[in-house]
Amino acid sequence: MTTRTVSGLVDELARIVGRAHVLTERDTVAGYVTDWTGHWHGVTTAVVRPADTRQVSQVLACCHRAGVAVVPQGGNTGLVGGSVPMRGEVVLSTTRLDVVEEVDPVGRTLAAGAGVTVAQAQQAVRQHGLDLGIDLASRDSATLGGIVSTNAGGVRMIKYGNTRSRLLGVEAVLSDGRVLTRWKALTKDNVGYDLPGLLAGAEGTLAVVTRVLMRLVVPAARTQVVMIGVDSVGAGLKLIHGLERAGLTLEAAELMTRAGIGLVRTHRKLRLPLDVDAPFYVLVEVSGPAEAQSLLFGVLADADDIVLDAVVEDGPAPRLWQYRESHTESVSAESSTPPVKLDIATPLRELEPFLGVLTAGLARSFPGVRAICFGHIADGNIHVNLLDVEDSHRDAVTDFVLRLVAGHDGSISAEHGVGRAKAPWITLGRSGVDLDLMSSIRAALDPTNILNPHILPGSSDSEGNSPIQLEREVAR
Ligand code: MLT
Ligand code: ZN
Repeated sequence: MTTRTVSGLVDELARIVGRAHVLTERDTVAGYVTDWTGHWHGVTTAVVRPADTRQVSQVLACCHRAGVAVVPQGGNTGLVGGSVPMRGEVVLSTTRLDVVEEVDPVGRTLAAGAGVTVAQAQQAVRQHGLDLGIDLASRDSATLGGIVSTNAGGVRMIKYGNTRSRLLGVEAVLSDGRVLTRWKALTKDNVGYDLPGLLAGAEGTLAVVTRVLMRLVVPAARTQVVMIGVDSVGAGLKLIHGLERAGLTLEAAELMTRAGIGLVRTHRKLRLPLDVDAPFYVLVEVSGPAEAQSLLFGVLADADDIVLDAVVEDGPAPRLWQYRESHTESVSAESSTPPVKLDIATPLRELEPFLGVLTAGLARSFPGVRAICFGHIADGNIHVNLLDVEDSHRDAVTDFVLRLVAGHDGSISAEHGVGRAKAPWITLGRSGVDLDLMSSIRAALDPTNILNPHILPGSSDSEGNSPIQLEREVAR
């Protein structure tokens, strides 16, 4: 691509979105070309910030004509390097698509732009006594388009399902600029393929989501939050299942370890959450009938052989939740290197053996690495965060963990997506036919492979050779 072409492209993009919304200078694009963990970064020809679906369509048609790759980006809170450019791709930021269009309290739906943050959406729907059903620590910057693109789970998934399960409709733009609008505020619309469901979790490789239609939830009127110290993952799972059998509804169920609680205590200057320094902690939020609290105490009393200590508070119990919600920031702050964040899942029966082999294997083969494991235990989803990993060891330790996950019949990505972080390991748990079909779907929707070209099946080669190589005039 000639330098003239690059500036010609920038001029055409400026005509579409306005010059103020085409960023090319190094300092103005800096926040867009490095991911949240600080590990994944690249260069971009330009960051373009369209205001609505029409402008997104024009921007994509322009890049499509020029054969220039595009990386869609929401709040840039992704944890797998899936929304930052590598070698000159245009970053299409959806942050200006930030209109909360409508909350329908009767149909319990939210219509909003893809750039609306999770927190803004929660605030809008809570005014009507409803909730999004999706919640995650990055709520203040994670966008609705971003949680659709990664099919985010979060801490409430155990009760309300993942983002795909809450998505009724989308408006999205294909790589050639065509606009797909599947927008029926119907719980039952069974005509043809589930295109919204297909775009959920596609990580911006099939289309750019510009608007979302979400199915809302009626939150529990009252909840109880309990932090329980246990000496094994198995004991934690047994307690969680006991709470369900007692007729309580799980609103959230999170696992933490002694190491994670210690890290959070160091970072946040907090005391122990219980009177014991337990090997494992489960943080469970439950709802249920009027006698929910006595049911909860009954379960704890019946399990006193496995409960090392416990504390119960009325929801929302921020004092207890802060231990869990502070994990991500504490890991980033306390690690001497960008943490290796491996969001994985195993069948519940495999969780304990997996964590046992993981801990022993890391100690043996990577003695300098600190492992902080935490996450959504009832989903079988554990966030294996590895601290102090030398850059030269990242791939080896990732390979060790992901192959161990596959060996326990698990998934190498539970809720964060694949991105660039796990691209080399995508064959773990996916057959050749599976990968071929995903490549065929991608080729059908984006035949020129300009959308987020370095990730997921059918991507350009792992060297990051996107469809075109842009000149040196890219912003670094
Ligand atoms: C969380 O559940 O806190 C995040 O998805 C995990 C992480 O930040 O690694
Ligand atoms: Zn999570």
